[in-house]
Amino acid sequence: MSVGLRSDYSSTIGSDKGCSQYFYADHSSLRYPLEVSATSGQLMCHFKLVAIVGYLIRLTIESVQLEADSCVTDSLTIYDALLPIRSMVLYRLCEPTRALMSFVSTNNLMLVTLKSPYIRRLSGIRAYFEVIPEQKCENTVLVREITSFEGKISSPYYPSYYPPKCKCTWKFQTPLSTLGIALKFHNYAITKKGAKGCEHGWWEINEHMYCGSYMDHQTIFRVPSPLVHIQLRCSSRFSDKPLLVEYGSYNISQPCPVGSFRCSSGLCIPKSQRCDGVNDCFDESDELFCVTIKPACDVTHFWQPGPLVCDGFQDCENGQDEHNCTQSIPCTNKTFKCDNDICFKKQNARCDGIVDCPDGSDEDSCSCSRTSSSLHRIVGGADSQEGAWPWQVSLHFVGSAYCGASVISREWLLSAAHCFHGNRLSDPTPWTAHLGMYVQGNAKFVSPVRRIVVHEYYNSQTFDYDIALLQLSIAWPETLKQLIQPICIPPAGQKVHSGEKCWVTGWGQRHEAGNKGSPVLQQAEVELIDQTLCVSTYGIITSRMLCAGVISGKRDACKGDSGGPLSCRRKSDGKWILTGIVSWGHGCGRPNFPGVYTRVSKFVPWIHKYVPSLL
Ligand code: ARG
Repeated sequence: MSVGLRSDYSSTIGSDKGCSQYFYADHSSLRYPLEVSATSGQLMCHFKLVAIVGYLIRLTIESVQLEADSCVTDSLTIYDALLPIRSMVLYRLCEPTRALMSFVSTNNLMLVTLKSPYIRRLSGIRAYFEVIPEQKCENTVLVREITSFEGKISSPYYPSYYPPKCKCTWKFQTPLSTLGIALKFHNYAITKKGAKGCEHGWWEINEHMYCGSYMDHQTIFRVPSPLVHIQLRCSSRFSDKPLLVEYGSYNISQPCPVGSFRCSSGLCIPKSQRCDGVNDCFDESDELFCVTIKPACDVTHFWQPGPLVCDGFQDCENGQDEHNCTQSIPCTNKTFKCDNDICFKKQNARCDGIVDCPDGSDEDSCSCSRTSSSLHRIVGGADSQEGAWPWQVSLHFVGSAYCGASVISREWLLSAAHCFHGNRLSDPTPWTAHLGMYVQGNAKFVSPVRRIVVHEYYNSQTFDYDIALLQLSIAWPETLKQLIQPICIPPAGQKVHSGEKCWVTGWGQRHEAGNKGSPVLQQAEVELIDQTLCVSTYGIITSRMLCAGVISGKRDACKGDSGGPLSCRRKSDGKWILTGIVSWGHGCGRPNFPGVYTRVSKFVPWIHKYVPSLL
């Protein structure tokens, strides 16, 4: 047992045996505090918790302070045993947190280790634990005739994280054979189980199998039967976020009563929730085919200034929507156009440090790249020019090129979550980032990776939320700013226009069949593709994805380009915007199968949470 006793060590627990402690808890109504902190030196703590046999331990974390580096040096680990056995890890925290979270053991033992070997500011934990009885999660519910949500079921020990192993069964019965059961999952969705296993919950509903996944909105699932038998099996590697599901009955023969919309899956939602920007159907079909208000293109006297009028794009065939743009000062090449279509007279309104646009868009992303070397000159691409894509990064895993990424600040890169999926790939240690590179292997700057932040909702089955942030161990030097430049993050929720031309770049394979990347950085011009069209091609395309390619196929990203940028040049100010991240596709460059990219505009608040310095 290691002891981390220092002069600046403080604890409210036990006598001063350092921060390695053994607790025996025999009172089920008590909260046993677990607190330790230090401002210098190191903390290497082991808290061994033992409860009365037959009871479980619930650990509630109030706050954790440590250096965020993907658990390379600092970590808080909770084990479902008294020894630090890898297979018994319940949860691992690699980032500081102030959010209340709790974890439950599967027996009467728990070990909590806190590792912070080089304290710079403050490291520590504030938590407490309790002794709790084992709970069964099974229930038989008689649902009433009222067709609305009337009750809730939840994962075991809700609102604690649920343990990696569990089995819950719920039986529902409605009073009439014409009524089925509707389930409303909070921040979660279930989809038909594929060949792979389920990472976040395995569900059996009336003998059909589904896998669960977390997301940023609620979803509704209807079972058209008056008798519904549900089994949930916890199937995550570690403890997982608590689940809450509301239930109620619905009319099977009329699943979509007047005033509601029928999702492709057969589910229904209130009509008012259609095209409201929130995905209410679990297949997201309520947010598809949403006609944006088109400018009245032909009938001049019905001219309505809508969002597509004077937006710099020709929405009417005759370009009428971009004529007579006088509802504000017309935008010319001497003026700057704000995101909300207002033009400013001032020639240098953009990035002058003064907010001129009401939405502040003239001062957005002012430190990112304006570079636009003549684009002379992936699948069907061509050699790029040296220095044409100064935000392009090559990520090497154990010395070999593996994925792409984009520079967004002096120490942060944006890439795809799927590049880091798996035990070894999620560890930052074997990765290096190569910046200012043209010929593979000849980078101007190489840095180890200090931290990898994969999006918490990344789904390895559907590639939803395929985004990750990487923090460099060494920020690239100012002296290289001619060769390395950040690309701009789009404004939050920015709409893209199908048909818009953008560029995809990378050192990935130049043909689908083959197994080696390109030595010279390739570039290919691709067109943004209508979301509805892309859904009809691929099926599951979520609102976090966008498609780009050319009808013939031919020009596309391929294996090895993943995580790299889809760069689009903004007309108003010539800035390059990171519109997409190379994510997936059916083969490479096949006709009618465009490349699928992560839609970066959906992740602006998420990026800012980790990179607040970004304007
Ligand atoms: N997932 C691939 C990678 O790991 C990138 C796939 C992109 N495919 C495409 N056809 N656009 O590099």
